[in-house]
Amino acid sequence: MENLTNEALEAPGYFKNFPALNCIDLSSPDIHNSVSLLKQACLDSGFFYVINHGISQEFMDEVFNQSKSFFDLPVSEKMKVLRNKKHRGYTPLFNELLDPVNQIHDILPGWRETMEKYHREALEVAKAISRIIALALNLEVDFFDRQEMLGKPIANLRLLHYEGRVSDPMKGIYGAGAHSDFGLITLLATDDVFGLQICKDKDAKPQKWEFVAPLKGAFIVNLGDMLERWSNCIFRSTLHRVVGNGQERYSIAYFVEPNHDCLVECLPPCQSQENPPKFPPIKCETYMLQRYKETHAVLESYEK
Ligand code: OGA
Ligand code: NI
Repeated sequence: MENLTNEALEAPGYFKNFPALNCIDLSSPDIHNSVSLLKQACLDSGFFYVINHGISQEFMDEVFNQSKSFFDLPVSEKMKVLRNKKHRGYTPLFNELLDPVNQIHDILPGWRETMEKYHREALEVAKAISRIIALALNLEVDFFDRQEMLGKPIANLRLLHYEGRVSDPMKGIYGAGAHSDFGLITLLATDDVFGLQICKDKDAKPQKWEFVAPLKGAFIVNLGDMLERWSNCIFRSTLHRVVGNGQERYSIAYFVEPNHDCLVECLPPCQSQENPPKFPPIKCETYMLQRYKETHAVLESYEK
């Protein structure tokens, strides 16, 4: 994949090169099956689909339309909600918007209400997923879905717009470069344009990148680095990136972290005499700040 050329990207069949991810049906009464599918996915790639999550297609369409209306605004309007130092607002360089932002109400009436409703509904989906994750880790079902964890979560909505440039991995040009997410889990909603790729083995040479196919009505869910650490690296936080094929693409990422005061300490079922904890306990907030500092050093210099 590192030898990807534009011709290869455009060749018929190229976008059919994708693995089937496990699909978790949140409406299924067979919880054992859901736990087993999710566990397999978390051990293997840390990526899975979630369907029948309770957010209506109609509302998802509305959220995407509102996102488009924002990116359709003239640059001068978008600049009014420029990203501030708390990582909220508009980042022209990356064409993304982090919610909530205050000034937007004057520009797009109703926009903020839609995004706040999405925020609330996505959090309920995240909680439902966290209960299956807890069971898959042999924890109490509400381990993550407790007041001191997801009861007071830190969740960020990020609206993304990829402007239809063709990526050139040979030259290091991507829609989004290779990264893993920092937090607990990420719920990604995408339109039907291909672009997201995952690399299951970051140490493989050459790295093998596989597409994750968009699935209508589904969330693509992935585990973040914090959960990898919490689970003593039993569960995977996988490297992913976005490559552009020339088509415009919209996606919405919802990053979920537990309360900043909670302690991320190797989970008891994930350690044994043969497999002792790989990391010391750390406060969620300390961990996240560390990760932001490392990764956003460039952004912070840009914001000054
Ligand atoms: C992210 C991300 C993927 C996408 O925002 O962290 O991986 O498809 N987005 O936009
Ligand atoms: Ni990501």
